Amino acid sequence: MDYNEAYKKLEKYGQLHVLKYYDELTNEEKAALLKQIEETDMEVLLNASHKDEADAKGKITPLSAMTLAEIESKKDEFMKAGIDAIKAGKVGAVLLAGGMGTRLGSDAPKGVYNIGITKEVYIFERLIDNLMDVVKLTDTWIHLFVMTSDKNHEATTAFFKEKNYFGYRPEYITFFMQDMAPATDYDGKVYMEAKNKISTSPNGNGGWFLSMMKWGVVDKIREAGIEWLNVFAVDNVLQRIADPCFVGATILTDSDVGSKVVCKNAPDEKIGVICLEDGRPSIVEYYELTDEMMNAKDESGNPAYSYGVILNYLFREKALEDIVAKKLPLHIVEKKIPYIDEAGNPIKPEEPNGYKYEQLVLDMIHELDSCLPYEVKRNYEFAPIKNKTGVDSVESARELCRENGIEL
Ligand code: UTP
Repeated sequence: MDYNEAYKKLEKYGQLHVLKYYDELTNEEKAALLKQIEETDMEVLLNASHKDEADAKGKITPLSAMTLAEIESKKDEFMKAGIDAIKAGKVGAVLLAGGMGTRLGSDAPKGVYNIGITKEVYIFERLIDNLMDVVKLTDTWIHLFVMTSDKNHEATTAFFKEKNYFGYRPEYITFFMQDMAPATDYDGKVYMEAKNKISTSPNGNGGWFLSMMKWGVVDKIREAGIEWLNVFAVDNVLQRIADPCFVGATILTDSDVGSKVVCKNAPDEKIGVICLEDGRPSIVEYYELTDEMMNAKDESGNPAYSYGVILNYLFREKALEDIVAKKLPLHIVEKKIPYIDEAGNPIKPEEPNGYKYEQLVLDMIHELDSCLPYEVKRNYEFAPIKNKTGVDSVESARELCRENGIEL
């Protein structure tokens, strides 16, 4: 893209200030900026002034989950179907590790965080250990696909290599990168991170399948004969991955997607809630939950929306191919965005100063015809690390690891 083309693109989206320092730049810096302008999807910026419309939902009604008791009563049947599918190479795992982990306050990828006390125990290591349980049980190596972003790709891949893939077979681990999205002030004007660089942030965890396609990873999946993809978050150190019982239950109920859920511990707990939206499966994010939904009761007087998702889904690969062309809703989230001031000095804000634009994996559920909400024991499978201390933190996760006999 040359200067004139870049000018036209920026003009179209009201972002000409991006070229403010252009004349001061070296040729190399100019080229880098023009390349970034070319590659940046600026369509998302049109949404800044329509934030409320972007958040609008359809008619929400409850969706019941397969409970722990129901799962227990069919455990043998589910386990057999799951183990058979894994042994046949039909199950792959996708680790979403492209997030910024800003709440944890470390610039390094979240997975390299050491939660150990008497020894080193990294978040990535905990996940690989959990996956190894299933590898051992089924005597089958499971393909693991790891999504990174521009901000952490090098650090993530180097860390896995340095740690010898925590004993996993490297030929079964494939890294791929997600896309970035521009970050803006509250009026939708993109911030500049440097005189020749637009501020960007990873574009959410919803683009993972599209990114897998871009990186040729989906071809690998088809070649390997993988039919189910277990997508999970980096930050839950008790995450059960490729759990045979969950795999079996999703397959035997002929669901397009299975979603692990936990019974919420409070109406305002910060997790997305599984429900129906206009009669189709859907998830409402915690920050979009209305008071009406929080307080709604079912016929027995129990909370009507009591199951929360823990970002562990098993998708039918074919169904993903069918929905990949559909545009997922955009979530516009307030964020602290580093930028340069008028004089060109870098500023790291203490408080949110603008928006990031994200598509979320949870919105994929609404595109699919059938979803199995599958209840899991909270203290056995859910120890998210979002913060350093307090709720969903390194501290609370350590406590839960101890409860589960995991040495730290
Ligand atoms: P979170 O919603 O907790 O976001 O991600 P985050 O960026 O890691 O953390 P904060 O909000 O900045 O503190 C849930 C999961 O989705 C992944 C994360 O890595 C985590 O596994 N994720 C999130 C991505 O892979 N890409 C993204 O763009 C965002």
